[in-house]
Amino acid sequence: MKVAVIKELFPGEHRVALVPAVVSTLVKANHDVLIESNAGIAAGFSDADYEQAGGTIVHRDEAFEADCVLTVRTCGAAGETWESDRKRMSSKSAIIGMADPLGSCQACLEDAKTGATIYALELVPRITRAQSMDVLSSQANIAGYEAVLLGATALKKILPMMTTAAGTIRPAKALILGAGVAGLQAIATAKRLGAQVLAYDVRPAVKEQVESLGAKFVELDLETESSETKGGYAKAMTDEFYKKQQELLGKVIAECDLVITTALIPGKPAPILITKAMVEGMQPGSVIVDLAAERGGNCEMTTPGETTCFNGITILGPTNLPAEVATHTSQLYSKNIVTFLNHLVSCGFPQETSDDEICRETLVTQNGEVVHARVRDLAGMPQLPCESPPQEGTGNASSS
Ligand code: NAI
Repeated sequence: MKVAVIKELFPGEHRVALVPAVVSTLVKANHDVLIESNAGIAAGFSDADYEQAGGTIVHRDEAFEADCVLTVRTCGAAGETWESDRKRMSSKSAIIGMADPLGSCQACLEDAKTGATIYALELVPRITRAQSMDVLSSQANIAGYEAVLLGATALKKILPMMTTAAGTIRPAKALILGAGVAGLQAIATAKRLGAQVLAYDVRPAVKEQVESLGAKFVELDLETESSETKGGYAKAMTDEFYKKQQELLGKVIAECDLVITTALIPGKPAPILITKAMVEGMQPGSVIVDLAAERGGNCEMTTPGETTCFNGITILGPTNLPAEVATHTSQLYSKNIVTFLNHLVSCGFPQETSDDEICRETLVTQNGEVVHARVRDLAGMPQLPCESPPQEGTGNASSS
């Protein structure tokens, strides 16, 4: 099979879909691997590295003629930069990458018209056998780590307690809102740096995980029994719930130096956890790092992609932290995507694949149609015959 890797054109996207070490494993498995010239340069891998691994350097046009194109961003996740590539796609194209299928239904419809087959890696089901293909986890994990470093640098305090001849410095207080993959890594990182760490999540099941990392779980007097979907994701709650949550969290936030927010609801804008009034209640010099900025943000004052200063509080809204450490995130992403590709091949790809849960749940477009039930539902399209009804909470809308 001819497998191609294209250069990411989305602004600020430094990752690459395959690192040279993973290219050599595909070459050993008798695949031809085509790499668009300079595809890996922003992640620290030169064309010569890929050639040494057995890849062939090609022009983008040639890459799109392969049996399968591997990318970090495709479809909606690639934004306007994908428009020129859409012209390169045909019914012979198969693309695997992050596509933002639940957040960009219109882009999925446009891509479907080309006849191309698109697999969206954000839709890999959260089941044990798919863990090694789970790009959301591998990338969110590193984003959680990066968020703490970013926040620690922006703070005018240090995180650990320090006893010196000149006096004792009390540890900074860090609060992590949302204790999923990114949040748990943020807790672990802030603990390692010596902060006093508190964490909160709407899913009560998370309390034990938070405590096992040595952080204090913040209990709020809220009804959260039905806050989790079958897939383990948080459900969207009522406006009344969010209002009460904001009221209760306001008191906790006012005492924290560093707040890292990671709360997401698949297929929906990020819930607002921190209002302007809550920011006004914080101590000057405090820092908020809003990891949900790409989905609109968990803080009312966040501007995605920018740093906002308000009343002496710094609010950071990074939209693609994994791209900032592209060598390692590309390494993990490569492992995820190649495991996914090998799985597809074991199910019959590039011909018709079997009715396997991982293949079925990730397939977004095929034969000129959007075929994914949840994407069709979000786009207001009728379900295809024999399609089971969409399941909320399978797949996330985040593309980083
Ligand atoms: P996510 O990125 O969709 O959301 C981040 C966190 O925000 C979640 O923990 C969520 O409960 C929380 N949140 C949402 N609304 C909130 C609110 N109003 N207030 C406070 N927190 C709020 O979630 P992520 O990190 O992708 O993980 C979701 C679930 O998937 C978890 O249960 C995780 O353990 C599970 N998972 C399972 C895997 C597997 O079995 N292969 C792999 C990775 C994660």
